[in-house]
Amino acid sequence: MITDVRRLESKRTLVTGAGGGIGRATALRFASEGARVALLDVNEEAIGETAELLDTVDGQTIDLLADVSQEPQVAAAIDRVLAEWDGLDVVVANAGIELQGRDAAVDALDLEVWQSIVDVNLTGMFLTCKHAVRALRAAGGGALICTVSPTSLYALGPGEHAYSASKAGVYGLMRVMAADYAGEGIRVNGVMPGFTATPMNDPVIANPGELEEVLANVPLKRPGTAEEVAAAMVYLASDEAAYCIGGTIVVDGGMTAV
Ligand SMILES: NC(=O)c1ccc[n+]([C@@H]2O[C@H](COP(=O)([O-])OP(=O)(O)OC[C@H]3O[C@@H](n4cnc5c(N)ncnc54)[C@H](O)[C@@H]3O)[C@@H](O)[C@H]2O)c1
Repeated sequence: MITDVRRLESKRTLVTGAGGGIGRATALRFASEGARVALLDVNEEAIGETAELLDTVDGQTIDLLADVSQEPQVAAAIDRVLAEWDGLDVVVANAGIELQGRDAAVDALDLEVWQSIVDVNLTGMFLTCKHAVRALRAAGGGALICTVSPTSLYALGPGEHAYSASKAGVYGLMRVMAADYAGEGIRVNGVMPGFTATPMNDPVIANPGELEEVLANVPLKRPGTAEEVAAAMVYLASDEAAYCIGGTIVVDGGMTAV
């Protein structure tokens, strides 16, 4: 634990994409801050690994096997949390995919690849938020945090047009939700990781030439860690962020500052 203050004591939280990378680090950090954490992921083995790690910080968890692009699965997952915990206070809509080597510039992009990426990254985000809002509203308010990306705003994913477009959609969705739900006590915000050392980026990190190319645009000259991103999630999930609506915390080593 980073501080002695448990900033999420007694909060009922749900993290999508909790089986790996940023989602796993967020789930672990939330638990160490006193939260109960529901772990949603499409990969059952990965959820199990996160749940085992959570045991070490004595976290109370619910494992939710679901694909965020499938509405009945998302609805059932949220319903299960509501039934077991009688409410939900924080949702981190984080699950996403990047199909490196298959995503491409539009003139070379297969419709099937476009659809797969948009289904998870944008439709999956919409479905998570749709059912999260219903749960948070029933609790009288709460926090909804969307993982966005520098590619939401800038042409930083050369050749990855489907990924970049899906993340731009997420950014737009996050802001319009923030404006529309603020009056109901639902605080919607974004966290924008830069190039982060997670399984998603293993292929780049394993390739020194490619890594050097990416880090050339990062003033800090190293990838971020999933734990550094999770720290921003904790702030936005906590009551200390009461006046934060529709904002984005950038955790990118300066990538978007230059
Ligand atoms: N890693 C980065 O550099 C970076 C930068 C900016 C934004 N992001 C975004 O952060 C989020 C997390 O990325 P990460 O780096 O931790 O990725 P990751 O691949 O390490 O982990 C993603 C997790 O999401 C799960 N997942 C994938 N599809 C799913 C689905 N349909 N339903 C439910 N779960 C699903 C995976 O099983 C995995 O456990 C993603 O939305 C990603 O686009 C990552």
